[in-house]
Amino acid sequence: MSFSFCIPCLFGLEGLVADELRRMDIEDVRPENGRVFFSGVAADCANVNLNLRCGERVLLELGSFPAAGFDALFEGTQALPWADFLPRDAAFPVTGYCLESKLFSVPDCQRIIKKAVVEQMKTRYHLDHFPETGTEYRIRFSILKDRASLFLDTSGVALHKRGYRPAHTEASLRETLAAAMVKLSRYKGKGDFCDPFCGSGTIAIEAALAALNRAPGLSRGFAAEQWPFFGKSIWEEARNKAIASEYHGEYRIFASDIDPHAIQIAKENAGRAGVAGLITFEASDASSFSRRTERGVIVTNPPYGERLLDRQQAEEIYRAFGSAMNRLPGWQLYLLSSHPEFERCFGTPSDKKRKLYNGMIQCYLYMYFRQRSSF
Ligand SMILES: C[S@@+](CC[C@H](N)C(=O)[O-])C[C@H]1O[C@@H](n2cnc3c(N)ncnc32)[C@H](O)[C@@H]1O
Repeated sequence: MSFSFCIPCLFGLEGLVADELRRMDIEDVRPENGRVFFSGVAADCANVNLNLRCGERVLLELGSFPAAGFDALFEGTQALPWADFLPRDAAFPVTGYCLESKLFSVPDCQRIIKKAVVEQMKTRYHLDHFPETGTEYRIRFSILKDRASLFLDTSGVALHKRGYRPAHTEASLRETLAAAMVKLSRYKGKGDFCDPFCGSGTIAIEAALAALNRAPGLSRGFAAEQWPFFGKSIWEEARNKAIASEYHGEYRIFASDIDPHAIQIAKENAGRAGVAGLITFEASDASSFSRRTERGVIVTNPPYGERLLDRQQAEEIYRAFGSAMNRLPGWQLYLLSSHPEFERCFGTPSDKKRKLYNGMIQCYLYMYFRQRSSF
């Protein structure tokens, strides 16, 4: 049986998510703004949840219809086959968003959708009140340009939460964005890889996971594993297949930060991710960044400086790092910053830049990949 799925992702990552899906032999991949649709069978749902590096969730689409008013939203929702998926004790919280639509009140839409799902379930289960004491089937909706789409969230906790980083880490890059930066650098385990502003180690850890070809979701669970209509076996098969596809090579991944406490946290995170042995950590100042090898790739996320004083400090860091890079013309650099003057401070215009969003902050990934005699 074929289903329609949707993967929400950070703006700017749609093409990378689509590429990841195609590499998993998924056909009918359709990227849109901030999300990517595809058609697939139940096993694809398990494989994608487990293996996707750059997407946020895997949503099972139940239907999509025009909804310029509450009546249309109610009727369209009620017409979908909820009771085919949700058992009588299912917990089904509703979350979603409205964009560029006549319906704009999210709480009102949540209420209408909930009521419509209940009405539809009543016809199957003949209950007046649903206890919602069982497994969670979170309903997600989007109302975009007066068109409603309704989904069941098969992932549960968002996919960027791989399970290796505790919730309290500050100023860390989202794991999906770090994985996307590694992907854009084309690092797959060959040669030297460095992050000289590593903070909690996310980029180096994602590079190590990519080098090993380790499924990023291997040490976590997914909501739909508890759903009887998909069955348990697809998840077990997906995990076994992922483990069998891992590589076991020698890797040269280095991560440093000026703050020894950050290094301590990064080491602990790498330990939880099972890649501590693959990364060499060091407390050091990127102003004196140097390497012995002629070539390699740096993927990094230095401070941006959101406030004025911090901004001046960030500029100093870019200048000093730019001078250090002058001694390493054979190295490629992929650097994420929201600072509008990054290239001027760093001292060299990038070969290419790509707009990416770190949460709500618009950034550029500055890419230096051409042969050069100096930075
Ligand atoms: C935006 S954070 C990096 C976050 C990281 N990508 C993560 O996911 O946790 C920038 C990091 O640069 C470090 N830093 C600031 N100045 C530095 C310098 N001169 N040399 C090396 N690291 C520096 C800070 O300690 C901070 O951890």
